[in-house]
Amino acid sequence: MLHGEVQVPGAKNSVLKLMAATLLAEGEFRLTNVPDIADVSTMCELLEALGMSTQRLNAHELLLINTGNITPVAPFELVDRIRASINLLGPLLGKYGHVDIAMPGGDNFGSRPIDLHVAGLEAMGAVFDLDRAGVKATATHLHGAEITLKFQSVGATENILMAATLADGVTTIENAAREPEIGDLCDMLNKMGANIVGVGTDKLTITGVSPSTLHAVTHEVINDRVQAATYIAAVAVVGGDVFVRGARAKHMEMLLNRYAEMGVSITPHADGLRVVVTDRLRSIDFATLPYPGIATDYKPLLVGMLSIASGTGIGTENLYPGRFRYVDELQKLGADIRINGHHAVIRGVEQLVGASVNAPDIRAGAALVVAGLVASGETVINDIHHIDRGYDDLVGKLVSLGALVTRRP
Ligand code: UD1
Repeated sequence: MLHGEVQVPGAKNSVLKLMAATLLAEGEFRLTNVPDIADVSTMCELLEALGMSTQRLNAHELLLINTGNITPVAPFELVDRIRASINLLGPLLGKYGHVDIAMPGGDNFGSRPIDLHVAGLEAMGAVFDLDRAGVKATATHLHGAEITLKFQSVGATENILMAATLADGVTTIENAAREPEIGDLCDMLNKMGANIVGVGTDKLTITGVSPSTLHAVTHEVINDRVQAATYIAAVAVVGGDVFVRGARAKHMEMLLNRYAEMGVSITPHADGLRVVVTDRLRSIDFATLPYPGIATDYKPLLVGMLSIASGTGIGTENLYPGRFRYVDELQKLGADIRINGHHAVIRGVEQLVGASVNAPDIRAGAALVVAGLVASGETVINDIHHIDRGYDDLVGKLVSLGALVTRRP
């Protein structure tokens, strides 16, 4: 049983974009509630390679200084480590009219194309030169455009948004992604002097401003709904009574409804969620969708929870067809899961059994840790560098709740 309180750190998928946005204006930016994760360090290295200076003021505060002396060429060895490096595209094109970056790396869960980013920026006047090695683009005159995304892509929405901030005229993005992290980016850009309306909706209207209008700001990163979901999942599988401080119900409504159907009692408070679980979980069916649907990043957690629930559940992946690689690892722990196309059929078993498993990506790695909490005996998770990319002291936080987890050197 887990007991006590856990603090949800700032969101990886927000802070990395906020860091990219500091390329848009000169001055000293201060980001607070920054998660202490490897991807933030990589993004710092990337920004420094471009000409910015960065400094961790303390574990959760970051100072970023943009003197305007930026070379918009991103080195391959850094870009390759982090998917969010694609988020440099919009700000560098918007501010410097040129960008040269290697193809982005990051989690390896299938093809992650950038055609929507490219089409949107081309509609604004950018000219791309794409090959297997990387992305080069030039924009002598970025102008407003009416863009309708054929899919609600988070990254494409963010890139177009950032480029449009300094473009000449009005840009509209229809079918924009609505993730809370995009709202956080819009809030920071507006604070910097940008003119974005429709924040939180699927139609964003950006009126370009002059570069001298934009200025550096201090901004607090929103909390990480996926880390919050992870701690709730941990209580769900082991049982217990935990206060997840900083979890925001309104950012994860659909997921919380599904958790509740599974038997997780969640009581929202002003400053977090109280999670109580006393009985075995019940199975549900779920499908991943863009926000406000069930995020694909929650899926490994849900599949792990269903592995020990009573009954059979079906999980359908609608975003990344290849994102089932962790299923093999859950099976090593005794989970009964069959994959059929983009569906996973999970028959709950009474008990998982400890084994040696490999973390294939950030979220799947965390889901394996959660599964390991409830598996009998010892579970060893290898390749934990994936988890370190997105989780701020997962082990320490779980231990503080009473879990038996250690990190091997
Ligand atoms: C972001 C998140 C990731 C999350 C995902 C979906 C970051 C750093 N990562 O990734 O954790 O899992 O949102 O919630 O914020 N697509 C195209 N063409 C494009 C762009 C995307 O076809 O140009 C497709 C992708 O292949 C995928 C889907 O759109 O099937 C979602 O991608 P997108 O929303 O862009 O995700 P990311 O921004 O890469």
